[in-house]
Amino acid sequence: MADKTLNVISICGSLRKGSYNRIVMNALLALAPDGMKITEAPPFSEFPLYNADTQNSTGFPAPVQKLADAIRAADGVIFNTPEYNFGIPGGLKNAIDWVSRVPNQPFAGKPVALQSASPGPLGGGRVQYDMRRAMVFLDAMTLNKPEIFIGNCTQRIDDKAGKITDEATVGFIKQQLAAFAKFIAAHGTQP
Ligand SMILES: Cc1cc2nc3c(=O)[nH]c(=O)nc-3n(C[C@H](O)[C@H](O)[C@H](O)COP(=O)(O)O)c2cc1C
Repeated sequence: MADKTLNVISICGSLRKGSYNRIVMNALLALAPDGMKITEAPPFSEFPLYNADTQNSTGFPAPVQKLADAIRAADGVIFNTPEYNFGIPGGLKNAIDWVSRVPNQPFAGKPVALQSASPGPLGGGRVQYDMRRAMVFLDAMTLNKPEIFIGNCTQRIDDKAGKITDEATVGFIKQQLAAFAKFIAAHGTQP
C-alpha cells in the first residue's frame, strides 16, 4: 500500500459556477500529501430525479453508471458540499440515491472524507452529520477527524480569484488529507 499512488476522487455538492465548495475542491490536488492524487469525479448534473420505475424500465442512466464505476475504482472519495436547509443539497442526495441502487453498491467499504464551506458561521456542520448518516447506511468508512468546516467562507475564500486565502484553512485541509491517506492505508479496500 505504501508504494501505491492513492487515487482519490472528489464530488462537489454544488452545481453553482462560482461555488465556494468547488473552489475548495479545486485546491485539493495541490494540498494532497505525496502519493495521493485527487481528481474530480464524473458529474451528476445530468442525473434524472431518482425514480425506481426508470431504473426498472430502462436501467441505470449512463452518467449514473459512470459515477458508480469511478467511485468503485477509487481508493477514497472526498465530498465538498454546501449545506442546504441544514441538510444535503437535493442534487447531491439524488446522486447518492441513484448510485446506492447500483448492484454491488460502490460506497461499501469505501473511505470517505467530508469538507464543507458556508458563508455562515458553522461552515456547514449540519450537512456533514446528514452525510455521515447516509454513509452509515451505505457501509462507507467515513473519516472522523480532523473535520473541515469552513465557516464565514467569504472571508477565507476569494471567489473572484478562485482561491483559498486563509492560510489556517489551508493548513487544516492539509492535515485532513494527510490523515485521510493514513486512513485509506489502514481501512481501504482497493488492492
Ligand atoms: C437552498 C439553500 C439552502 C441553504 N441552506 C443553508 C444552510 O442550511 N446552512 C448554511 O450554512 N447555508 C445555507 N445556505 C447558504 C449556502 O451555504 C451558500 O449559498 C453557499 O455559498 C452555497 O455553497 P456554494 O458556494 O458551494 O454553492 C443555503 C443556500 C441555499 C441556496
